[in-house]
Amino acid sequence: MKINKCRFCRGKLDLVLSLGDFPVVNYFPNESEIKKEKKYPLELCICRNCGLAQLNFILDPKKIFQKYHYLSSVSKPLVKHLHNLASDAIKKFNLTNSSKILDIGSNDGVLLEEFKKKHIEAVGVEPSFNCSEISTKKGFRVYENFFDQKLAKKIYQDYGGFDLIAITHTLANIVDLNDFMRGVKLLLKKNGVLVIEVGSLKKMLSDFKFDSIYHEHYSYFSFETLSKLLAKHNLTIIYSKNNLFHGGSLRVFAVHKEINTKASKSLGEVVPSDYKKFVSQIKIRKTKLQNLFSSLEGSLIVGYGAPAKSVTLLNYLSLRSDQISFIVDSTPYKQGRFLPGAHIPVFPEEHLNKVKVDYIFLLAWNYKDEILKKIKSLVKKPVKVILPFSREIIEIK
Ligand code: TYD
Ligand code: ZN
Repeated sequence: MKINKCRFCRGKLDLVLSLGDFPVVNYFPNESEIKKEKKYPLELCICRNCGLAQLNFILDPKKIFQKYHYLSSVSKPLVKHLHNLASDAIKKFNLTNSSKILDIGSNDGVLLEEFKKKHIEAVGVEPSFNCSEISTKKGFRVYENFFDQKLAKKIYQDYGGFDLIAITHTLANIVDLNDFMRGVKLLLKKNGVLVIEVGSLKKMLSDFKFDSIYHEHYSYFSFETLSKLLAKHNLTIIYSKNNLFHGGSLRVFAVHKEINTKASKSLGEVVPSDYKKFVSQIKIRKTKLQNLFSSLEGSLIVGYGAPAKSVTLLNYLSLRSDQISFIVDSTPYKQGRFLPGAHIPVFPEEHLNKVKVDYIFLLAWNYKDEILKKIKSLVKKPVKVILPFSREIIEIK
């Protein structure tokens, strides 16, 4: 569905960038499903009134999230990151084994497990049935549903309020932001804390990482737009920090405004020239990467990692299986299937043992250190690793 008004404030949307038509990123088709795959327009806009960066084509969340091939547990650095987030929150806010935690967008339950290890009760909300089923099997109570005010009322009847509500890399995936926040507000105890982590728009723009743009990211937050959203729902950010996760994220802790604590200072705003530079650089980078691939014709090139962002990247660059022979990825759901749109086959990581490859295109560039370690132990050497954004080529001998 095409929209022309901001989902947060109803302001008018201005077009920033049109990338073309793209498929759903987290459903990997099998051979027979490829023919039925659909594509939808991907256009980044900004709200003239509140500044929220967002898409103007809203793909029904049911089409995106109900069968979801992304799993948090398969990426070790992500598990560690969530472990640190839990420890940080426990320490900062003196959470104890009588505290109650709600994780909205709990995926396969990694953060729930981190709290369980500390004997703190954690409840999840996860609309993807395959992901919620995994965490239910681990023994967690997970509401298999989209979080909204209606579900919040049900959760409130079952549990009352929560001491900590975690929304990590989920807020971008919410269509009705105000209804969502009303639900959060209802479930946050009087002295409760809300922790939100989102990809940083400022960092996405400054590093030209347009591959974060895909249909399930309906919104792209800066510190300012996130503060506006929270302020509208009478929540105050008391702590905020940028971190380098997923190429640059923003983590904030917020409390009810009525608590009257000192607000955190801003982490900086995105300005119009950031968008301008971003748009012009993307085109330049596209040409440079396409030229690089043309110059490597005849070499065996494969991809490492089939993250959602690689769907945007490879489809934008029009790279197909004649240029990237296959991709390896640690997610069981993705293996034996094809990368959406580009239709490149996806295999387990061990597949790299079997063939002599010349180049590896590092598609999950955010896990560079972990993946380079794996490449060193898995791959027949020598091999060269191409980093998509710096276009740096690392030679492994
Ligand atoms: P990720 O960057 O977490 O997210 P997104 O899909 O939002 O862009 O996805 C990383 C992908 O890379 C995921 O499919 C798992 C895969 N992966 C590996 O194959 N091996 C690894 O060592 C790691 C860390 C990730
Ligand atoms: Zn707006």
